[in-house]
Amino acid sequence: MSKKENMIEELEELQKRAEAELVSLNSEANLQRWKTAYLGHSSALMQVFKRLPEAPLEMRPEVGQHANQVKAALETHFESRSMEIRQAALQQNLQQEKQDVTLPGRVPPCGRLHITTVVLREIYRIFAEMGFQVYRSPEVESDVNNFELLNIPAHHPARDLWDTFFIKTEGVVLRTHTSPGQIRAMREFAPEPIRVVLPGMCYRYEQTDASHEFQFNQVELLAVGKRITFANLKGTLEEFAQRMYGEGVRTRIRPSYFPFVEPGGEMDVECFVCGGKGCPVCKRRGWLEILGCGMVHPVVLRNGGYDPEVYSGFAAGMGPERITMLRYRIDDIRNFWANDVRFLEQF
Ligand code: PHE
Repeated sequence: MSKKENMIEELEELQKRAEAELVSLNSEANLQRWKTAYLGHSSALMQVFKRLPEAPLEMRPEVGQHANQVKAALETHFESRSMEIRQAALQQNLQQEKQDVTLPGRVPPCGRLHITTVVLREIYRIFAEMGFQVYRSPEVESDVNNFELLNIPAHHPARDLWDTFFIKTEGVVLRTHTSPGQIRAMREFAPEPIRVVLPGMCYRYEQTDASHEFQFNQVELLAVGKRITFANLKGTLEEFAQRMYGEGVRTRIRPSYFPFVEPGGEMDVECFVCGGKGCPVCKRRGWLEILGCGMVHPVVLRNGGYDPEVYSGFAAGMGPERITMLRYRIDDIRNFWANDVRFLEQF
């Protein structure tokens, strides 16, 4: 056997031995040891490369080529065996390491509803139990719905009650209250009886301060039908106050003026801070004003499509932000839309 054949045979044997060993390995550590032994600097294979320059010239190409093939083959096999072992280890881990369900979970950061939304929903719930449905109407309104059909003609001094945002398009306003929704609901349902709550944002051209915002919510209440009386209005609002402010809370209705109701009034609840004795929250009056109300004016009934000789109705309007301020003793209405999480997170 020539020296060349000798070397090639040696290489083949080396490869056989290395591969046989490789398949029997089953740990990452053994695998590394194998790599050092067969592909490392002082491995037999590398020695072949090192000794090559000393070999006779005519055998160098063939032996060199063969050595390269062996090296490439061992490297490939190493990679795939290494992959197999890692897969097997992973598989074993998955099977052995059972999930520990007693570990406390990671609580995901959780948003919350705005306090006004919470209070609005509470109001809907209370009135829903009395048969009132939510009816939505637009924030951009016609002057006609916002004023005229509510018995507030142009140039009537009562318009001063609502500082209005007018826009460039004539006859269009940002609604100053939810009352125009009364007209929309009546015109949709007449001559059927109505029981609705009309919630939503209203806008007024106001200098803002602790008790004035240029945007705020209102919830309007409207009931129309035959034989609806002031007693129904009083009973409904009384029941609302009990559920909103607590059983046994005292209420009163004072006469007041709104052009779209007759008679009109304002409802107060007993100050729940001082129990009616008088304190800074109620400005020593013992009462807190919570809403405007009254019997729907005959003109408004007619504008809505109801014959005031046959039908009657009551309406009320309240500000959920004001209700919230009283309940949580919030002293600045601007907090509601200032988007300060320190304020919002409290609720
Ligand atoms: N719309 C009135 C306001 O904004 C409130 C109100 C509604 C009064 C319904 C009476 C009846 O002040």
